[in-house]
Amino acid sequence: MRVVVLTGAGISAESGVATFRDSDGLWEGHDVEDVATPEGFARDPELVHRFYDARRRGLALVEPNPAHQALAALEDALGEDLLVVTQNVDDLHERAGSHRVVHMHGELRRARCEVCGARPVWDADLLDAPPCPACGRATLRPDVVWFGEVPYELGLIDRAVTGCALFVAVGTSGAVYPAAGYVALAASSGARTLELNLGPSAVSRYFDEVRTGPAAQLVPQWVAELVG
Ligand code: OAD
Repeated sequence: MRVVVLTGAGISAESGVATFRDSDGLWEGHDVEDVATPEGFARDPELVHRFYDARRRGLALVEPNPAHQALAALEDALGEDLLVVTQNVDDLHERAGSHRVVHMHGELRRARCEVCGARPVWDADLLDAPPCPACGRATLRPDVVWFGEVPYELGLIDRAVTGCALFVAVGTSGAVYPAAGYVALAASSGARTLELNLGPSAVSRYFDEVRTGPAAQLVPQWVAELVG
């Protein structure tokens, strides 16, 4: 793996998907404890289902932007030498044409069965407690990794980050670990590191180079530099 690109909510901001920690973010009006923890789900599953059902439906109203498209073009050029690791639960990388994408925090377009662990592709609502297609029980939850839960594919990501020559973070605040720690891991493994973000992140100081601006401009520029 030569290039690893870590993306966060900022890459989807110009598509109209709200980020988490900017002023119009999803935390506004919704306490994170209520909608993004297993305890919140246990307390009020209806609220949590309504929240993620609305976000899943909202995917139909947004489109990939030039940043997603540039990463898909980069995959066309680099093939297996590129891995996109996203913290986003939207499907905009895939809709732009990327295939080599790891959703470490899960996907809105999947459900997860709390009993059998199946992760079926899911485009409908979950509020009405549909049966799990694998085991038949009404125990589906959003396939989103909540606070206190372990992200997906950590071993694969770890290997990619420690083995890459170039690590690039796009539109992520560096507030949530383990993703926020990947720049230091990449750097200590000998990779060059580049941050593309609207403003400084909590981990900007760990990058060899920081470029500031909107992802829809910075990512296509950087991809053009890399592959011409
Ligand atoms: P945040 O909302 O924390 O950060 C968004 C980042 O994107 C900020 O650093 C902004 O400066 C930047 N940004 C905003 N608009 C941008 C633009 N147009 N171009 C470039 N950058 C822009 O989102 P994440 O870092 O993704 O976890 O948050 C990490 C995790 O926190 C999320 O995956 C989520 C949340 O808890 C889970 O759901 C498990």
